[in-house]
Amino acid sequence: MLNLLPVTLRFLLGSLLWLDSPQPPAVQSAPSPISLHLRHQHAITNDSRVIFSDMAPSFAADSYDVGTLKIQTHRPQSAKAFHSARLRSIRHDQSERVLWDPTDILGPNVEDRETLLALAKMTSNAYTTSTTSDWYVLDGWNKSTPFGWEPDADGFRGHVFVSDDNSTVVLSIKGTSAGWITGGGGPTVRKDKLNDNLLFSCCCARVGPTWSTVCNCHQGSYKCDQTCLEKSLIEESLFYSVGVNLYNNLTYMYPDANIWLIGHSLGGSLASLIGVTFGAPVVAFEAPSEKLAATRLHLPSPPSTHHVTHVFHTADPIPMGTCNGVTSSCAIAGFAMETRCHLGKVIRYDTVTQLNWTVDVRTHSIVQIVERLLQDDWIEEGQEGRTVPEAKPDVDCVDCYNWEFGDFKG
Ligand SMILES: *[C@@H]1O[C@H](CO)[C@@H](O)[C@H](O)[C@H]1NC(C)=O
Ligand SMILES: *[C@@H]1O[C@H](CO)[C@@H](O)[C@H](O)[C@H]1NC(C)=O
Ligand SMILES: *[C@@H]1O[C@H](CO)[C@@H](O)[C@H](O)[C@H]1NC(C)=O
Ligand SMILES: *[C@@H]1O[C@H](CO)[C@@H](O)[C@H](O)[C@H]1NC(C)=O
Ligand SMILES: *[C@@H]1O[C@H](CO)[C@@H](O)[C@H](O)[C@H]1NC(C)=O
Repeated sequence: MLNLLPVTLRFLLGSLLWLDSPQPPAVQSAPSPISLHLRHQHAITNDSRVIFSDMAPSFAADSYDVGTLKIQTHRPQSAKAFHSARLRSIRHDQSERVLWDPTDILGPNVEDRETLLALAKMTSNAYTTSTTSDWYVLDGWNKSTPFGWEPDADGFRGHVFVSDDNSTVVLSIKGTSAGWITGGGGPTVRKDKLNDNLLFSCCCARVGPTWSTVCNCHQGSYKCDQTCLEKSLIEESLFYSVGVNLYNNLTYMYPDANIWLIGHSLGGSLASLIGVTFGAPVVAFEAPSEKLAATRLHLPSPPSTHHVTHVFHTADPIPMGTCNGVTSSCAIAGFAMETRCHLGKVIRYDTVTQLNWTVDVRTHSIVQIVERLLQDDWIEEGQEGRTVPEAKPDVDCVDCYNWEFGDFKG
């Protein structure tokens, strides 16, 4: 019967499914930290070739130590059930029960600043090649070791870190190229922009009348055709499916491993979408809000998404969902970042109130997170005994409230 519901109601139901019921993860005594080493790199080129390669053994010399916590996550009982539920939702607008198994696993200790710092550095390294100076390296790293990126590498790329006993694998995904912030910019900017605007704008990046939209679903004033929007997203946003394939490939390579995902910016949002697909722990830095994207991609909703942790600060308008409007720095650079509701839990550093930081898109950079935000323990009244702010779910959050979504074309 669901297919007879008006599209507006379906949209609403879809959003409601992604309301996360409060359900604290079962945190137990702290297990010992694990030491991770860079082992593989992954990328897709601008002509959509997938590159996956082993790093030279010299890269494994550096280790990133991360603390762990026992957490509960929810995994689909089978990939087949998950994908059939998703296809049924896409093709017939019908919902199907996907059975989720609660699973206790080791996740990153997101209450520990040193762990967040190590993960942020691992994420940051996904932007550059080893020959450039902004790799965070420990002593002994040979910067002239051939790295193997295609010079024209585009879009989705990053690294795979593995523990010595192969029991923990961390997939890092790079974010939007920082070129539009720093003035430089590489070949990845164009495709990243298309993906960002499809996933994180209300309606095809229709920011103002002078904007060329990234899909054709805008139907006058603040009206948007929902079916059209979902169709464009599924056709154009190849990054989610590339990520799902890569995750699956890692499960074949490391069948007994516990896989975590990390990412910055767009990479963080993709890490979250892939993490809720597989029930894998996620730490996302400064990621634009991806809850609406999960609905539009028709991802079946797990009982809890608290295995996803967002880390961001209030002076960065991108995760805050305030980098919008025709005159914003995001719009001037051609990005429409309009969503504001995150999945999972949020560690929100109030740098504006506590540290007098000025709201500025330049604070979005992962370098700012590594070199400013995470250098010292967070001190705030009411947060005594913590080294980072408390993680809390985004509650009472509404995306794109001024837009009307419905069946306007048909
Ligand atoms: C990929 O990038 C290279 C160099 O930047 C360019 O010459 C080539 O045309 C691009 N290919 C595609 C399919 O865009
Ligand atoms: C670094 O790697 C390059 C290329 O593999 C090699 O020629 C050079 O000897 C290495 N340097 C050190 C200090 O290990
Ligand atoms: C870990 O996996 C690699 C393959 O990536 C394999 O060569 C190695 O023997 C494995 N080590 C252990 C301890 O299982
Ligand atoms: C996954 O593995 C298959 C088979 O080796 C390969 O064709 C595909 O390109 C891989 N995909 C990713 C994203 O790594
Ligand atoms: C922030 O600004 C206020 C008022 O100017 C000042 O009292 C306070 O010390 C500043 N805090 C920091 C951390 O700089």
